[in-house]
Amino acid sequence: MDKFIEFEHIVKTFPGQKALDDVSFSIRKGEIHAIIGENGAGKSTLLNILHGVFPATSGEIRIEGKPAKFSNIADAIDFGIAKVHQEIVSIPDMTVAENMFMGKEPGRFGIIDKQKMNADTAELLKRLNCDFRPTDRMGDLSAGQKQMIAIAKALEVNAQVISFDEPTASLSDKEVETLFGIMHELKNAGITILYISHKMNEIFRMCDRSTVLRDGKFIRTIEMDKTTRDEVVQAMVGRDISLFAKRTMPCQKRGSTPVLQVKNLSGGMFKNVSFDLYPGEILGFFGLVGAGRTEVMRAIFGADPRTSGQVFLNGKEIHCKLPNDAIKQGIALISENRKEEGIMPNFNNMDNMALASMEKYMSGFVINSAKKNANAKDKGTQVGLKPNDPEFMTVSLSGGNAQKVILARWMSTDASVMIFDEPTKGIDIGAKSEIYLLMEKMAEKGIAIIMVSSELTEIMGMSDRILVMREGEISGELMKEEFSEERILNYTVEEDV
Ligand SMILES: Nc1ncnc2c1ncn2[C@@H]1O[C@H](COP(=O)(O)OP(=O)(O)OP(=O)(O)O)[C@@H](O)[C@H]1O
Ligand SMILES: [Mg+2]
Repeated sequence: MDKFIEFEHIVKTFPGQKALDDVSFSIRKGEIHAIIGENGAGKSTLLNILHGVFPATSGEIRIEGKPAKFSNIADAIDFGIAKVHQEIVSIPDMTVAENMFMGKEPGRFGIIDKQKMNADTAELLKRLNCDFRPTDRMGDLSAGQKQMIAIAKALEVNAQVISFDEPTASLSDKEVETLFGIMHELKNAGITILYISHKMNEIFRMCDRSTVLRDGKFIRTIEMDKTTRDEVVQAMVGRDISLFAKRTMPCQKRGSTPVLQVKNLSGGMFKNVSFDLYPGEILGFFGLVGAGRTEVMRAIFGADPRTSGQVFLNGKEIHCKLPNDAIKQGIALISENRKEEGIMPNFNNMDNMALASMEKYMSGFVINSAKKNANAKDKGTQVGLKPNDPEFMTVSLSGGNAQKVILARWMSTDASVMIFDEPTKGIDIGAKSEIYLLMEKMAEKGIAIIMVSSELTEIMGMSDRILVMREGEISGELMKEEFSEERILNYTVEEDV
């Protein structure tokens, strides 16, 4: 069926914001249809309307020709339309099974049948190749594992339409493969899939068609086997993006003395990590998800304890026991879990951005709001924040734009060592190139940058030097002239014996 789901003249206005502006297109039954576009383009908003999270301001959605208007998510689920959200909400003290069946525990006479709940959950987890148990605590799971639970939840309701909002952002390669296998299974079973992602290779690999939104407007629907990557990017951003993930300025480093020296650092998931970091260089940290890169960075930053080893900043030994110590020393860590670790819900953009650099805005004992505002405006421009309004409430931003606020927060600290953990995760392609340029500008000013990334093109394009980690240890170092995909990947896996 060519017009299984029809979006007809959909408009959504938020106070002071038009998120969707007369969007019309349709989805075929049984296809995998991507919704793509830059941060804030309206992708999540469109799905939220379909799933009954909130109503459209005007316009109509029809499913199989009949108007479909749900007043909440549960209504949509009853109709066979399920959603895997962009942000996973869970209660840390609940077990996996309790979380799966939240609000609808199976059992007769209102008594919760724990055994059945656990057995049903175990079956779903098995289908998804998950390596955790129904009785595990939610709080002990990784972001990727929580994402798998969200997927299990959608499968559990036997939906005819499932939509995924950036499902792979926090999944390991293995989990991504499992998810893609499941998506193929669902498609073969005739289920229709809507798929939001910023990852071009996923969209080309998995989707039949994609619909491009830009600034809330429908641009076009593209058949994936009749297009090119460049054409899709052009449709998304409305301009040519050149110099994508390519270091353009020369590195300043050689011959200088290191700003940061890490010697035989060990901790929970890593051991004997040693490296030097020079002013003006971008040092890439590559490895598979779980190789221990994030843990090393957190230990340097004082967010996690270390068991042995030393860290020197400008030749002087430091031991940051808390992130605050690190910030005072001029070390910033832009964490991978930017949303979880960072946004104050009752703060607007300028207050969220000011959190790590308060002393900059003090005039005597009072906070100078004008300074805070000016800083927010400036950093907002640098990260390509939309809308770049210091007074805008951060929680109302799109997912990717909220991430940019956290980037802006750490850029406001004027640190001399900036550690970026997956800096472009969830960030659209246009803003990506802005962030790359920004990192280069920082490096040019002599700031030393560590970039943890799982994206090969990004790590090869942006780094001056790459360290590879495997199972908690540094397994290789490559200078720029030695970079090759094969060499890097070789260091991530066990050597032949
Ligand atoms: N609750 C809200 N209140 C006010 N504005 C909102 C609200 N939710 C979304 N918006 C605005 O609507 C626009 C579209 O947001 P949406 O979340 O749909 O973007 P998106 O395409 O999903 O982006 P991303 O790739 O960053 O997730 C944005 O400009 C955003 O600021
Ligand atoms: Mg979104």
